[in-house]
Amino acid sequence: MATAAKIGIGSAINRVDGVEKVTGSARYAGEHPVENLLYGYIVEAAIAKGRVLSVDEDAARAVPGVVEVITHLNRPHVAWTDHSYQDEMKIPGSPFRPLYDDRIQFSQQPIALVLAETFEAARYAASLIEIAYETEAHNTDFDVALDEKYVPKKKRSGYVPPKDRGDAAQAFADAPLKVAGDYRLAPEHHNPMEMFGSTVEWHGDGSITVWDKTQGSQGVHAYLASVFGFSKKKLRVLNPYVGGAFGSGLRPQHQVFLAVLAAKMLERSVRVTMTRQQMFSHAYRPQAVQSIALGADRTGKLTAIRNAATTSTSRYEDNMENVVTWGLMNYDCPNADAEYTVAQIDTPTSADMRAPGAATGMTLFEIAIDEMAYAAKVDPLEFRLINYSPIDAMNGTPYTSKALREAFREGAEAFKWSERSAEPRSMREGSELIGWGCATGMWDAQFSKTSASAKLTANGHLEVACATSDIGTGSYTVMTLVAADTLGLPPEQITAKLGDSDLPTAPVEGGSWGAASSGAAVQLACQAVGKKLLKAAGKIAGEPLGGAKIEDVLFEDGCIVLKDTPTVRVPFGDAMRAADLTEIEEEATAAPGFGDMWKGLHKSKNTHSAIFAEVRVDEELGVVRVTRIVDAVAAGRIINPKTARSQILGGVVMGIGMALHEETFSDHRLGRWMNHNFGEYHVPVHADIHDIQVIFVDEPDPEVTPLGVKGLGEIGIVGTAAAIANAIYHATGKRVRSLPITIDKIL
Ligand code: MOS
Repeated sequence: MATAAKIGIGSAINRVDGVEKVTGSARYAGEHPVENLLYGYIVEAAIAKGRVLSVDEDAARAVPGVVEVITHLNRPHVAWTDHSYQDEMKIPGSPFRPLYDDRIQFSQQPIALVLAETFEAARYAASLIEIAYETEAHNTDFDVALDEKYVPKKKRSGYVPPKDRGDAAQAFADAPLKVAGDYRLAPEHHNPMEMFGSTVEWHGDGSITVWDKTQGSQGVHAYLASVFGFSKKKLRVLNPYVGGAFGSGLRPQHQVFLAVLAAKMLERSVRVTMTRQQMFSHAYRPQAVQSIALGADRTGKLTAIRNAATTSTSRYEDNMENVVTWGLMNYDCPNADAEYTVAQIDTPTSADMRAPGAATGMTLFEIAIDEMAYAAKVDPLEFRLINYSPIDAMNGTPYTSKALREAFREGAEAFKWSERSAEPRSMREGSELIGWGCATGMWDAQFSKTSASAKLTANGHLEVACATSDIGTGSYTVMTLVAADTLGLPPEQITAKLGDSDLPTAPVEGGSWGAASSGAAVQLACQAVGKKLLKAAGKIAGEPLGGAKIEDVLFEDGCIVLKDTPTVRVPFGDAMRAADLTEIEEEATAAPGFGDMWKGLHKSKNTHSAIFAEVRVDEELGVVRVTRIVDAVAAGRIINPKTARSQILGGVVMGIGMALHEETFSDHRLGRWMNHNFGEYHVPVHADIHDIQVIFVDEPDPEVTPLGVKGLGEIGIVGTAAAIANAIYHATGKRVRSLPITIDKIL
């Protein structure tokens, strides 16, 4: 029998939801059609700290179409305790509780919701609301807050405390070559394509369906159930399509709270969406300062690493990131110490943003490493090889795999790094200085407990389902490919379902664990279906498979095939008919610890990357163009090279933003983010992006996760801004230690 080339794990296919996405039939949360809808518009605090003394709603209520104005004064009952508002991120402190009381904790805090028959009426009425405030002294200046930085008593889950080794202070004092300085990252705000929005459908029996912009339908489900006291069955949360999130949707955001509050109070369907400006009222990457001191001997061998970082958090929660551990893990150096503290400012709690901690800490560290290479007069790539650690140097544990050497080699070759001239300012073309820089990236290879179901019908159609999300990453496609691979069916016969709190349990999509986790769950569920199929085939008269065991067969082209005698093939439909089955449905859970996974495994699990950047800097204008990037990534097994490449491209583009553009400015007198729009908060646009080459280094790793997958959502951003900063130094001879590197810092 002629067989088409098998499509499965490793096939570069288009994303299966591509057509829905580009034709607009994939609806985001704020687009879902619901009848008889009310529109909510959020009124935000004009001060950074204090109390609401009074709210004058008369003019707003007089606007035709306005139905209600909700404030802390008239809101319906909500949960009393902090505990009820805790979300999956488990950030220690007292979570923000919208419309809870008269207290204002940050500028742009939602303090009222206007509801009207049209969005326009709600928005206009909101502009008429007069609020009297009692103001209190605030501080949004991170540099002032640094005076009171501290080590939080309670640590956020997932936080890894740094481990010191040797005597770094002494080794640094003794080092013949030293680099020391403060490296900085500006606050960055989340600006995904899809703005935060929620549509709540009120069903009349007290139950609701919520379409929410989130990275986890079940996380939002748990939050809403807890805050509003919904029984599980009266609440369903959906997020089938998400227009980017990058960490902004890990925590339930206040629009979903407000939309559900209003729906409950008015017993009507309600939609609340944030405007682009309102997107600056919540999730942002913390501002950071990292004091790095490196010592080396004259051959370029590191002798001391000192790494102390502080990031911004709010007054009410201690948000922590793994900022200082990466450099200690990645470099072979006998003496290293680190310290991590947070400092409070009067803003919303800082939040996860693509590779939280590493995107900041590894990137800034890689600028210092570059400086040390120059101090030692060693090529920056060579410097990294001299100080290469095959093991996790902080924990003293081997990695399940670390193909960073190969990434350096393949990346350097593709970039033609060997043609680089060592001296800064030594390469130019016309009015442009050319610079080449490199950096290392690192991220975690994580795997979280995830369940999935697989349902095969007699017509040969397979549906796999899991409550994970697809925030643009390609989860639908990953689930489809894993199912195709496991049961030998073409992708056209497979439907992947996700983004629904009713589906089998999955964590938020984040941390780059999605493909490894939902992939493993889908594989297990499909394997269970395969076993049932084989059992069913045993009922066929004459037993064509001769009582074969599961290890004796494979699944191919919709048939059970004997490995030893591939001409013996039993179509799935024949097996199911013989056993009188119209469908086979199985559910399975993949978790660390199932089977032999990770049992007694004391190894570190990480992805690595080698990034090479070329910049061209106009000598007179200071304009920087990033003309070439090569990112060689070691991330274990690649399920779909096409969507995987897209993930790295996206990360690199965000890294270019971090290097050159993204920065939120606060007017500290007002305590307010001032550039809260795309006119003044800059992200890379098409014209900023030139040649980006992505290389996946071969890295077989049977230990890291069941499929050997390490995850790719975040590694692309880590270190990218450092490679660019280092290239700018090479081009101009000017070392800039604070990101973004705007023109004023170069001239
Ligand atoms: Mo990511 S910052 O875990 O969405």
